[in-house]
Amino acid sequence: MPKITFLGHACFLLEEKGKETLLFDPFLRENPLAPLKPEELKTDYILISHAHFDHLGEAYEIAGANKATIISTAEISFQAQEKGLNAHPLNIGGRYNFPFGWVKVTLAFHGSGIAGGHACGFVVHYYSKNIYFAGDTGLFSDMKLIGELTPLDLALLPIGDNFTMGIDDAVMAVSFLRAPQVIPYHYNTWPIIEADPEEFRKKVEEKTSSRCIIIPPGKSHSF
Ligand code: NI
Ligand code: MN
Repeated sequence: MPKITFLGHACFLLEEKGKETLLFDPFLRENPLAPLKPEELKTDYILISHAHFDHLGEAYEIAGANKATIISTAEISFQAQEKGLNAHPLNIGGRYNFPFGWVKVTLAFHGSGIAGGHACGFVVHYYSKNIYFAGDTGLFSDMKLIGELTPLDLALLPIGDNFTMGIDDAVMAVSFLRAPQVIPYHYNTWPIIEADPEEFRKKVEEKTSSRCIIIPPGKSHSF
């Protein structure tokens, strides 16, 4: 049974006993809510949704220290390769098989933070489970397609508003995606993205058939 750990902001660690570990959007050193430091992390892969500082964060440093493989869009992957790091470039709509399963890159409506790039989300098939990590994005109705093309077990969605979807749009995203379990992120790191995850949970459970799991930074959920 895979385990997902929330490391604050948009950072998650996905693990299965004895298997490859995947890290998403590491932003730890400057995150006031981060439960650990980048040098404490062990990972085999690092997925990066876009190059804003709160997502690219310490990805290159952690990749170097762990000899991990970065999985991201072409512009970020090529930049990583220029720094001597292992990186696998993908782009929107593309899917590739890895030892743990596969990764498919989805749309995300957001800035890329790097010239010529696109922000993205990921659908990850990881040891029989399908996980959607939305990255930073506004709501878009093609989220219906994401859930239709790959029946999801878990969806990870931003709820903090201002830079991404807020709570009400994220609730609609949950109804589009039809994942049985949903975990909110990208909230309360700073006052500008203050949001009440309990309000999100209430609305998700009133308006959809999904279950909302709120994970405090540093805690895990098995699914
Ligand atoms: Ni961003
Ligand atoms: Mn962000």
